[in-house]
Amino acid sequence: MPNPVFQKHVFVCVTGKTCPGQGSEEVLAALRKEIASLGLKKQIRINKAGCFDHCGNGPLVIVYPDQIWYAQVQASDCKEIVQSHLLGDRPVERLLYDGRGKIV
Ligand code: FES
Repeated sequence: MPNPVFQKHVFVCVTGKTCPGQGSEEVLAALRKEIASLGLKKQIRINKAGCFDHCGNGPLVIVYPDQIWYAQVQASDCKEIVQSHLLGDRPVERLLYDGRGKIV
């Protein structure tokens, strides 16, 4: 079901035990900067989130309504996530996470 408010709603784990030490605050900042620079803050929301209970695979990022999880995301990956997935609806395959580990 589509999100009635945002085209994409993105959650970044920033308050868990391990993701912050793996760079999740930088990922959050990079995603927010990219969305702001494109003038898309009303369409795409980047939210802080607590632990997703998959610690050690971070930084973890989840995109709704697509139910896509990304693992080991770095700030340098964020432009690609925005362009390919959030704007182009093509998830970044090399970062996909299935709950056990990266898919690719
Ligand atoms: S610390 Fe990020 S999933 Fe637990």
